[in-house]
Amino acid sequence: MTLSLGLDVGTQGTKGVLLDAESGAIVARASKGYGLIEGLEAGAAEQHPSTWRDAVRLVIRELLATPGIDAAQISAIGVSGQQHGCVVLDDKDAPVRPAKLWCDTATAVEAAELSVAFGRPVPTGFTASKLLWLARNEPANWARTRRVLLPHDYINLLLTGEAAMEAGDASGTGLLDILERSFDEAAIDAFDLLANKHEASPTDPGLASRLPRLMDPQTPWRPVGFVSDAAAVEFGLTAGTLVSAGGGDNMMSAIGSGATTPGVVTVSLGTSGTVFAHAEQPIVDPDGLIAPFCGSTGGWLPLLCVMNLTGVTEEVSTGFDMGHEALTASARQVPPGCEGLLWLPYLNGERVPDLPLATGSLVGMRPGHLRAGTLYRAALEGTSLNLAWGVERLARLGIHAKELRLVGGAARNPLWREILAACFNTPVIPLAEPESAALGAAMQAAWSWRHQQGAPVAMRELSTRCVHTAGRPTLPDPDQVALYLSIATRFRAEVSKQYDAPSAK
Ligand code: XUL
Repeated sequence: MTLSLGLDVGTQGTKGVLLDAESGAIVARASKGYGLIEGLEAGAAEQHPSTWRDAVRLVIRELLATPGIDAAQISAIGVSGQQHGCVVLDDKDAPVRPAKLWCDTATAVEAAELSVAFGRPVPTGFTASKLLWLARNEPANWARTRRVLLPHDYINLLLTGEAAMEAGDASGTGLLDILERSFDEAAIDAFDLLANKHEASPTDPGLASRLPRLMDPQTPWRPVGFVSDAAAVEFGLTAGTLVSAGGGDNMMSAIGSGATTPGVVTVSLGTSGTVFAHAEQPIVDPDGLIAPFCGSTGGWLPLLCVMNLTGVTEEVSTGFDMGHEALTASARQVPPGCEGLLWLPYLNGERVPDLPLATGSLVGMRPGHLRAGTLYRAALEGTSLNLAWGVERLARLGIHAKELRLVGGAARNPLWREILAACFNTPVIPLAEPESAALGAAMQAAWSWRHQQGAPVAMRELSTRCVHTAGRPTLPDPDQVALYLSIATRFRAEVSKQYDAPSAK
């Protein structure tokens, strides 16, 4: 049996799957959890790249400990990673400092300045704002930085010794011309002006020299490289194993959920909530709220990302020291609409609506509401209403769905599915494999390997084999649709009132 290894280096942990791409079966899976660095200033969200490296090592070793499996069966490896994370490396490729992550909102000022300088929106989560923050706030670290990579590129570098970006994940830096799929030289010049204005250093080599090569966007199946001797020892792999380009977790999740052809719209319910679809043409939101990403298999991947999703339900779970199943059961006892309690769920700022500095608010609280089930239902409803608001923006840009595919850990929660179906007024259906990013990475690896072997397989064929829905769709309940429609109006009015948010459209 020939296997593909898919890794997804996420915010809460790293997951790995071994896929038999001929049958579409996942034959082994493993994961290793971790958290954010604690005690940072409000809004900062950071992880050390060594945390990912250790997790990748553990996950691969656990997968290879599966009875009957050995490293020689792995023909190819694909790596998915949380998007936007800012990995800065010195001249020996050692991390200069921890990586600021996609959900770090401490760089809101820099993002706003870059948006003006670039003449196009650069959302707070995107990498460019973190680089400008670094140049200004930690000039010595910026001076030591020789290379800038994204999280999945860093793992690719460890595996192969190759430093490169591919168009999909690179489009989340804010430094890519997404139409041309090349670095945006004017933006990079504008960045240098801003960065050097503050910590003037005539000898600074500038941003362009710190960016890696960009892989050829015409041939997305090309591997980034092959497992090096050093990586074979460190990770227990076979030297020479192909490593595909990999990509951002949403790009890999698009592959692992079948959103590589038009018409399939996927909702990913993880630390972030994302909604995305494949597009043959770039889709540019003038307000920048829908990200105009490139896909990792060609085409584009217009994407909505909200920063507050499972973090909000997790907050209730931690606060009441209760598990999600018990909380879901309690929340079922609370009527839809939560007796008027509304949670504006922006615990750590938000990207859509554009409120990077917001905090969360509970509105309409009455006696008896401070109970686990009520707060859990308010968390499910608040996050779903916020996500539905973004889905409406996507629809205005021409992305409609007859049915939404659900992936990510929270897709398993039946009550959340009911609420989402009603808020979206669209049937939702979970996929058999919720870890769609790890699956997508493994599928991309198989795709790349088949090309390399001179026996290409179409991505569509791989999707038919590897991507399956689970069970029946959850249909929107008409009474709940009407109820959530009226609550959505109140939700949006409260957001405008509380945050004085012109962009909360
Ligand atoms: C997308 C985004 C998140 C991260 C989560 O723009 O920021 O979905 O990729 O890992």
